[in-house]
Amino acid sequence: MSTAGMALVTGASAGIGRAFATALAAAGYTVTAVARREDRLAGLMAELGPGHDYLVADLSTPDGISATAEVLSRGPYSLLVNNAGAAVHGNFASTPLDASLAVLDLNCRTVVTLAHAFLAHADSGAALVNVSSTLGHTPKPGLSIYSASKAFVTSFSETLWHEQKPRGVHVMALCPGVTATESQSADDVPSWLVQTPAEVVTRALAALADRRGPTVMSGRRNALLTTVTRLLPRGTALSLLGSE
Ligand SMILES: NC(=O)c1ccc[n+]([C@@H]2O[C@H](COP(=O)([O-])OP(=O)(O)OC[C@H]3O[C@@H](n4cnc5c(N)ncnc54)[C@H](OP(=O)(O)O)[C@@H]3O)[C@@H](O)[C@H]2O)c1
Repeated sequence: MSTAGMALVTGASAGIGRAFATALAAAGYTVTAVARREDRLAGLMAELGPGHDYLVADLSTPDGISATAEVLSRGPYSLLVNNAGAAVHGNFASTPLDASLAVLDLNCRTVVTLAHAFLAHADSGAALVNVSSTLGHTPKPGLSIYSASKAFVTSFSETLWHEQKPRGVHVMALCPGVTATESQSADDVPSWLVQTPAEVVTRALAALADRRGPTVMSGRRNALLTTVTRLLPRGTALSLLGSE
């Protein structure tokens, strides 16, 4: 095991999760990468070098969640990055319910179950990062389940931050704004608002090193925009976000 300890990253085959995995390995962590696409995970392992490991798991299913929780309980892990997440786009009432429920499972049930498994064994100095979103603060019409799930993740992380403080375990809700990844082309967003996964992770790891929390925005512009949007009457903010 490396001096930095062991880190498990969910959704490590792409985007922000992959950037976490590479940055953590570079920082001396022994990384366990979790996702569904084995070819991607194997490619990541080749890039990280020896000593790291991966688990193929679908985290929207009970089997995938329990297999990952089992790995966490075998630890000892000093860092869990609950990053895997997805969204259904469109009007809620005309979206198939199963699709919404699968997102709810992945974004909420998985985060809760893995947090529980991690915290059961976490030692003082350990850290839990739950990847939320600025949309958890400012819900966007057309992304109802996603926005609500991220409000859950942020709120859940904030209370855990307080509860875990006395035992020396740091909990953070990381709230990225628009980040250019596979699931977010960001084509329709002004470029000054768009971050790369590497930028998000650099900010997250700096915040982690300083034990900042309970909520960390991935950038000043996102933080400012979120603050301004929250100052507006709720209906006005929804109309603005809904018309984008
Ligand atoms: N991109 C943004 O603008 C943005 C903004 C705010 C917050 N976020 C949050 O940041 C996190 C990462 O987003 P991203 O944009 O980097 O995503 P991404 O590029 O689409 O990658 C998603 C990752 O999650 C994994 N994943 C998806 N469904 C899964 C499942 N059922 N089981 C296991 N793994 C699964 C994917 O791997 P496999 O497909 O191989 O399983 C992939 O590694 C998410 O929680 C997202 O909500 C993103």
